[in-house]
Amino acid sequence: MKTIKSILILGLLLFLSVVTKAQPAKGGKKIGPDLFGLFFEDINYSADGGLYAELVQNRSFEYNPTECREWNPYSYWEYIAPGFSYGRISVETAEPIHPNNPHYLVLDVEHVGREVKFVGTSGVGLKNSGFDGMVVKANDPYNFSMFVRQLSKEPISFNIRLQNPKGDILAESKLSTSSNDWKKHQARLIPTQSCDSASLVILATTEGKFAIDVVSLFPEKTFRNRPNGMRADLAQMLADMKPAFIRFPGGCLVHGDGLGNMYRWENTIGPIEQRKEQRNIWGYHQTSGLGYFEYFQFCEDIGAKPLPVLPAAVSCQNSGGTWQIGGTGQKALPMDEMQDYIQEVLDLIEWANGPATSVWGARRAAAGHPESFHLQYIGIGNEDKMTPEFEQRFKMIFDAVKVKHPEITVVGTVGPAPDGEDFTKGWKIADEQKVPIVDEHYYTSPEWFISNQHRYDSYKRNATQVYLGEYASWGNKLRNAIAEAAYMTSLERNGDVVRMASYAPLLAKKDFTQWKIDMIFFDNVNICPTPNYFVQKMFSANRGDYYFDKVISKDEKDINLAASCVQDSKTGDIILKLVNYNETAKPMKVNLGRFGKIAAEGEQTVLTGSMDAENTFANTKNIVPTSSIVKISKSFDYSAPAMSLTVVRIKMK
Ligand code: AHR
Repeated sequence: MKTIKSILILGLLLFLSVVTKAQPAKGGKKIGPDLFGLFFEDINYSADGGLYAELVQNRSFEYNPTECREWNPYSYWEYIAPGFSYGRISVETAEPIHPNNPHYLVLDVEHVGREVKFVGTSGVGLKNSGFDGMVVKANDPYNFSMFVRQLSKEPISFNIRLQNPKGDILAESKLSTSSNDWKKHQARLIPTQSCDSASLVILATTEGKFAIDVVSLFPEKTFRNRPNGMRADLAQMLADMKPAFIRFPGGCLVHGDGLGNMYRWENTIGPIEQRKEQRNIWGYHQTSGLGYFEYFQFCEDIGAKPLPVLPAAVSCQNSGGTWQIGGTGQKALPMDEMQDYIQEVLDLIEWANGPATSVWGARRAAAGHPESFHLQYIGIGNEDKMTPEFEQRFKMIFDAVKVKHPEITVVGTVGPAPDGEDFTKGWKIADEQKVPIVDEHYYTSPEWFISNQHRYDSYKRNATQVYLGEYASWGNKLRNAIAEAAYMTSLERNGDVVRMASYAPLLAKKDFTQWKIDMIFFDNVNICPTPNYFVQKMFSANRGDYYFDKVISKDEKDINLAASCVQDSKTGDIILKLVNYNETAKPMKVNLGRFGKIAAEGEQTVLTGSMDAENTFANTKNIVPTSSIVKISKSFDYSAPAMSLTVVRIKMK
């Protein structure tokens, strides 16, 4: 009895100490805990060929000329018939694996020649070199799969291999067909050597006829070893930012180039061979392999809240044209399709959060996730033109979500610019309809960010809040990043109005970039983070939920100086951010008098360099932050280096 009592007292004391420690200092302003997150759009080959770890390009033979004039179902595939073999190849659609995936190839192996050493194994088949060569690592496992339907009487044998550009075999496996229906065949390939430009070869080594579709090759070591998963190094870069949320899957990708191109979430879940592939608005192809399940799972894996954005039943206002030349303009879903569309939005909420016994919850459970994904936010629309058609449809969707799911916070939209007609109309709609949050977008000069640090000071409190869903200054030089850092201190100061913010775009593949200023560049092997990435990371990994003014003093007349102080009430940590956009060092003073007992040391991270410095693939570490442990006292002077962001994290004692 005595022991139980002392355990209880000890538990209570422990609980109290945690609670006490977690108390923020007096006089702070409560700000939202979700301020800094990520915006992922499938632009610049961010998904297929990027974050999505699939190594085969055009795996389902769905590439077509509407995406890129020279594309067709054979694109990125080479028909091969080594060893004096011959056969025939065709694209067919009569009996696909699934109606969503209509094209497949048929190979008729008419003759398998004698094996000739210098040519390689004889047979008839296909070769795929992925997205400019597949990167494989020695001794790492790779999971191969393909769907095959045997069309002739006898089973067909296959030789599956990875080879280097010289044709040397890096890994090999044998398979054989056994079914006249579509059947998935799998092999695990372990290369003996590393290669950055490997190819996958599928060679039928017996005569006969077969159909083939959905040919896939994945590294087993994806991020968190997820099947159908993400490229580990890229995903880790995002995880390292500790984002509060991830908005996906776009951008303009969401509302699409015409109604038929809108991103429909239901087409992107379930087995990959049943997902609907489509033209990417940015001029390439999306397999939907990185679909809603994968996005939600990634969010969960890295502790970020999911923020899916769904079209507001209208297409992009630039549909059918380019940014410069107008096309068909915004199109709206016909009214008689709206009820089904609204149901699709509601279904997403059930799919994400509903019990595994519900219709859509059961589909989530079938994919291996019976628990809720805890969806809290949903975006409706993306910088749409504020037409009466938009307004009517937005209201219908918003009202339906409010009635059926009052627990969900809807994020509306206010056009593509920081002001102007759509912005004003969008805000009017938001005010009238009491939309909880709206999504503002702006891409502009670093000077604009410096001069507009007071933008949100005058926004109405206790009204519609802001999600700054897309912003970036025009450039990836250090001075761009530091201008953004200065602006971000103003987002923290206004964290009672600005609920969330995310830089855009996030990822860009070298040589496949449609949008020039991005946060992280990559190729098949390397990653080149920009200074902007480090600024985002330094803010995002150092969020607080209380804001304190008058902690840092500086020359108030110098608009190139900015600073903020937040506290994370979970850990009690005090976080200072000090920004100097000048070309010379500037003095600042820190006074931590209002905080209780603080640790004698803190962790200081500094990002600085010359204003035009940037990172390149030749020197990816030109501009990187450096961290050190520094002495902290209740009040101290700090000389903010020229063109710098400094973050100081201080623990409570
Ligand atoms: O971030 C790139 C594009 O910019 C987004 O797709 C769109 O929303 C904005 O115009």
